[in-house]
Amino acid sequence: MANEMTVIQDLHGRVHDYLRISITENCNLRCKYCMPAEGINLTPKSHIMTADEIETIAKIFVGLGVKKIRLTGGEPLVRKDAKDIILRLGKLGVSLHITSNGVLVDEYIETFKTAGINTINISLDTLQKEKYNIITRRDTFDAVWNNIDLLVKNDFKVNINVVLMKDFNESEIVDFVNLTRSSPIQVRFIEFMPFNGNQWDKSKLVTYVDILSQIQTHFADHQVIRTIDKPNDTSKNHKIDTFLGSFSVISSVTNPFCDSCNRIRLTADGKLKNCLFSNTEDSLLDALRNGQDLLPIIHKNITSKFKVRGGMEEDAEFQDPLRYSENRSMIKIGG
Ligand code: GTP
Ligand code: 5AD
Ligand code: SF4
Ligand code: SF4
Repeated sequence: MANEMTVIQDLHGRVHDYLRISITENCNLRCKYCMPAEGINLTPKSHIMTADEIETIAKIFVGLGVKKIRLTGGEPLVRKDAKDIILRLGKLGVSLHITSNGVLVDEYIETFKTAGINTINISLDTLQKEKYNIITRRDTFDAVWNNIDLLVKNDFKVNINVVLMKDFNESEIVDFVNLTRSSPIQVRFIEFMPFNGNQWDKSKLVTYVDILSQIQTHFADHQVIRTIDKPNDTSKNHKIDTFLGSFSVISSVTNPFCDSCNRIRLTADGKLKNCLFSNTEDSLLDALRNGQDLLPIIHKNITSKFKVRGGMEEDAEFQDPLRYSENRSMIKIGG
């Protein structure tokens, strides 16, 4: 069985060499678009992967050709042994990345450096403190803002993730682009996606077209440059010609990028999820604890991967509450 596959390839010819590992379902924020208002039932700790188990499973994936690992959550940096996990994965010879809400980043600068992490994705949906408090239901804007500055000063490449919502932060699109004038950051505008309990509604969606049209209204045509996307990018990349940084759009709703998908996900409770929108999962953690071979499970999981968004090719299916409420809440997936 061990030779059943040497790379993780699905039935649509896509090789999966990028593993996203959620290391915790916990978070120190409560973003309205990510988790239900009533909170989530946390999986008991005994069913969450230990640092040893994360390392063991990650090594199996590296043996199957995984070249990039991104740590997610919840908020990965709230996990008590996050430093240990980061340092261990830093030794696997992969390109290691992390997505964080930025609140605790200052405690991890040296850990990131030692582990060879040089790009950090930070979620920050507004530049206005009062709005930040509303969307995150917490009061940590200053900490995040200072930590972005700290990262830039320490020569990390910083990507700021901005989930856009009508009547909330769409009026800040140009302000965010202006942040890239003299700072080498990349701002990534994200179309709001539907997940269980996140009060998604089509009327809240700010689309790729809406975003560009606002930017093109503010800047002259020749200033807005469409730059090159890397082969497996989720983002459509742009910049303002004379600005140091750049901006991009992650258009999962209006322009999905599934043709080039190379991603597979491992949830904090050890379930393999072949798509952000898949609702079928296979437990690698149970198999590991039972001493089973993980390769046939990985193989089964990847061969059942749909071509587009968990099989929801039509917008009507993708936007159907009955369908997306079958998926996890985003906080339990990790993006
Ligand atoms: P890179 O690894 O640099 O490509 O970053 P990323 O954009 O994949 O990671 P990040 O965790 O910062 O996520 C930013 C946004 O992209 C979030 O809204 C994610 O949900 C979304 N995203 C990440 N991966 C996928 C994916 O495979 N499919 C879709 N549809 N969206 C994704
Ligand atoms: N739609 C789009 N992006 C989301 N994120 C969380 N919930 C959603 C959603 N409903 C983003 C976070 C974080 C990344 C991992 O996923 O802002 O940056
Ligand atoms: Fe936490 Fe990120 Fe979800 Fe906000 S979006 S609640 S920071 S996991
Ligand atoms: Fe890949 Fe699914 Fe995201 Fe499409 S929606 S890019 S198939 S993870």
